[in-house]
Order: sequence, then C-alpha cells, then structure tokens
Amino acid sequence: QLPSYEHLLVSTPKPGVGLIQLNRPKALNALCTPLFVELNDALRKLDTDKEIGAIVLTGSEKAFAAGADIKEMKDKTFSTAYGSDFIEMWSDLVTQIKKPIIAAVNGHALGGGCELAMMADIMYCSTTANFGQPEIKLGTIPGAGGSQRLTRAIGKARAMELILTGNNFSGKQAGEWGLAAKVFESPQECVDGAVGTAEKIAGYSRIVVKAAKEVVNKSQDLGIREGVEYERRVFHGLFGSKDQKIGMAAFAEKKKPQWTNE
Ligand code: HXC
Repeated sequence: QLPSYEHLLVSTPKPGVGLIQLNRPKALNALCTPLFVELNDALRKLDTDKEIGAIVLTGSEKAFAAGADIKEMKDKTFSTAYGSDFIEMWSDLVTQIKKPIIAAVNGHALGGGCELAMMADIMYCSTTANFGQPEIKLGTIPGAGGSQRLTRAIGKARAMELILTGNNFSGKQAGEWGLAAKVFESPQECVDGAVGTAEKIAGYSRIVVKAAKEVVNKSQDLGIREGVEYERRVFHGLFGSKDQKIGMAAFAEKKKPQWTNE
C-alpha cells in the first residue's frame, strides 16, 4: 500500500502499472527538494512492488514541471549548493530505478522539468507540450543532465542552439527530433497512451524487461564493441531463466506464455 504524499498522486490505473502524477498545481509543478524526497520514495516502493511492472510519470495538463523552484534556489551560495550536493538526489535515484519509466509530458516541461522527462526510459508527449532549457535567462545553466541528455537525444547543433538561446520547442518538434517516441493530440490521450504501453510492458516477464532496459541503457555509456559484448553476456544469462524456457516452449507449442518472472 502506497502512502499518500503532499506533492504527488500515486495510483495503479491498470494491472501492473504504477502512475505517479506530480501535484504541485500552484507552482506549475516546480521541482523542489521535498517533492523529490516523495518522488524518490514512491519510485523506490514501486520498483520493489511485485505487482508493478512499469511506471508512468506525468504532471498536469498545464505543466509536466515548470523547472526547478526558482524561489527555493535563488539565495543559494556555492558552498551550500556544493556542500549539500544540490540536485544530486534529484537525478540519482530516478536513473537507478530498474523498472521502465515512461514520461507523459503535457504543458510546460522547462529546465529541470525537461531534464526530469529526459531521465525517463521512454518519453511520450502531446502537442500541448512546451519544452525548453531556459536556464540561461536566469543566469545559470542546466544542472540535472540537460546539456548531456538533450545533446545525446537530438544532436549537438540543436541542443547547443536551444541551451544558448533559451528558446522553447514544441511537442511536435520533440517528436520529429526523436526526443519523444510518440506525440499525441491531447493530454488525456498522452497519459492513456503511456499507461497502455506500460501495461503492455508489465505483461512481459519482469526479469526479461529488466534485462532489456539494462542493455539499452548501456548503449549510452559504452562504446559499440563493449556494448554489443555486454548485450551478448546478458542474452546468454537469460538462458538460465525460467521465462526464456517458458517463452520459447510456448511459441513451439502455439500457446500463450505464463511468465513466472524468474
Ligand atoms: C518557482 C514557479 C516556477 C518555477 C512557475 N512558478 N514556474 N515558481 N519556480 N520554476 C510559479 C509562478 O511564480 C506563479 O506563482 C505560478 O507558478 C504560476 O506561474 P505563472 O508564471 O503565473 O504562469 P504563466 O503565466 O502561465 O507562465 C508559465 C511559465 C512561467 C511560462 C511556465 O511560469 C515561467 O516562465 N516559469 C519559469 C520557467 C523556468 O525558467 N524554468 C527553469 C527554472 S531553472 P505565483 O505565486 O506568482 O502565483 C531550472 C534549473 C534546473 O529548472 C537545474 C537543475 C534541476
């Protein structure tokens, strides 16, 4: 049973799917440390919950998240930021979750909001999405991976232009540039689409989904040769799982596999 949170709504809209909705409407879901304490707690609980196979992270129709809370951040000094590793706990846990996370982005996804969406494994958005890394306008730069993840996702030329100008970009552009895997016509369709995909993923063997996510993510850290070798080792390892036997036997017998998650 998940606790109730101040800045989040957590539900299970479909079997196997955990839905986390950022819920700080008065500040357009501006990201602050108390929100991340709760988000990390919810993610950790969903990640270890045997009933859950995939997680959807969304905001409201108006804002996925309008960035780091500028009012919370404005008086920080170098010593307080560096001394407390400000932001580290915002991204470390999200990117260590083993179950797939799908971000469903509607409305503003600016600064830290765009960075949080990019930490997800799959990003969906609607045509209402308004992305950007506007930090330069505030006298700072992206601090939660924006310069790295945006550049890897859409290429250096576009990422550099966006980060140096602070210009926003649309949901449609996010789709065309490959940042978002799908673009939906409305916020509700976007969340429903993400929940549908999460339900599909949750219907596969948990252990195999975990391995698939792990090897795709390795492609971001390793060279092609090491990455392909890593993939092959994990592929070999799955011959030791029950679900590989079940999956292939079911195909041969023309049956539906009943996964054991082992
Ligand atoms: C704190 C914020 C906020 C933010 C909005 N609010 N964004 N508070 N931090 N990032 C608050 C507003 O102050 C206002 O509170 C309320 O939310 C509604 O916002 P409005 O501005 O009145 O709404 P609107 O006119 O619709 O404009 C929406 C907006 C604008 C375009 C998104 O709010 C905006 O530009 N926000 C800042 C976006 C930004 O610069 N993000 C990057 C932050 S830096 P009141 O009390 O007045 O009603 C960052 C660094 C990341 O993210 C580094 C590592 C994580």
